[in-house]
Amino acid sequence: MNETKVTRFRERIGEIYVGAALTLMIDIGFRTGLWEAAAKGPATSEQLAERAGLEERYVREWLGAVTTGGIADYDSDTEMYSLPEEHAVSLTGDGASNRAVNAGLLTYLGKHVDPVVTVFREGGGVPYSRYRPEFTSLMDQRFRREYNEMLFDGYIRAVPGLEERLMAGIRVCDVGCGTGHNLNLMAAEYPASTFTGFDIAADAIELANAEAAEMGLSNVAFEVQDATALPGDLTFDLMTTFDAIHDQANPQGALNEIGRSLAADGVYLMIDIDASSDLKNNIGNPLAPYLYSVSTMHCMTVSLAEGGAGLGTVWGRELALEMLSEAGLTQVEILESSNPTNAIYVCRKG
Ligand SMILES: C[S@@+](CC[C@H](N)C(=O)[O-])C[C@H]1O[C@@H](n2cnc3c(N)ncnc32)[C@H](O)[C@@H]1O
Repeated sequence: MNETKVTRFRERIGEIYVGAALTLMIDIGFRTGLWEAAAKGPATSEQLAERAGLEERYVREWLGAVTTGGIADYDSDTEMYSLPEEHAVSLTGDGASNRAVNAGLLTYLGKHVDPVVTVFREGGGVPYSRYRPEFTSLMDQRFRREYNEMLFDGYIRAVPGLEERLMAGIRVCDVGCGTGHNLNLMAAEYPASTFTGFDIAADAIELANAEAAEMGLSNVAFEVQDATALPGDLTFDLMTTFDAIHDQANPQGALNEIGRSLAADGVYLMIDIDASSDLKNNIGNPLAPYLYSVSTMHCMTVSLAEGGAGLGTVWGRELALEMLSEAGLTQVEILESSNPTNAIYVCRKG
């Protein structure tokens, strides 16, 4: 036994738990508005509590955690706490740079440890219904910021000629659309095109249609529809999935339906998690532990709950290419995304 290794690992475990504990505090800061309040300038715990409309004793304890955790600074002479502007960039605002949003997904997944432990023992999975409606709202909060900033420059304009076709007028379908913000943004930007969003989640579809109505859009419609049984009479020129293949019960069935519904000269944009299908290639990828963990706590288990493939979040490029080919999508180019978690698969029929 190498004692140095024992000590190093014990320290590492400690760091892991400190990170997990601070994740809870980051989520609380996001939900209570404490990050926004702290970003307004230095304050004592009383002043910050008043600014945020919260109980001082709780705010002071939270400040203890985020100060010793290296997120906020503390001046013991003035008893003032401050959030450095360089840190505020990642914890405040409506943009995609606000990483505090992501903490909510982790604290929410934490609530599902009990049922996940049960399926470790008994098999099967934890169904999607156990994660709703909060999951729908967490996905929306997280992705809407990304789409506001990246949808056009990061995804649409990454594919040569696609924007011109959208401007001229084509039929577009997003499968597993969730709350549909991306499609609503596209519908507003490209009024000559028509847009259809499908998802199995009725709560998400209701929100998507409500946003479309609020935006006054008449060229977009959202319907509850299983990806493995798309309407037989519809053909689309552009089909998209945004992080919506890897957690499906029957992902091959969904890809087959996309292949079948795509026009001969159509394009399918599959935005999905970027990783390798082979674990050994993911060792050293700093995001990989996060991806496998989220998979265990959600993406894989929701699929297994339906007796599905249980691909998992880290299904990876190699398997994705095989499955796309099986669906008749044999011409595939993989583009890097400005979101390092995702790859953009630009797929066409052979
Ligand atoms: C990770 S979420 C992504 C949602 C959305 N694309 C976004 O970017 O916010 C995956 C979505 O796939 C949907 N989904 C899962 N299985 C499906 C199926 N068989 N048919 C249609 N949608 C499905 C879920 O309901 C969920 O909204």
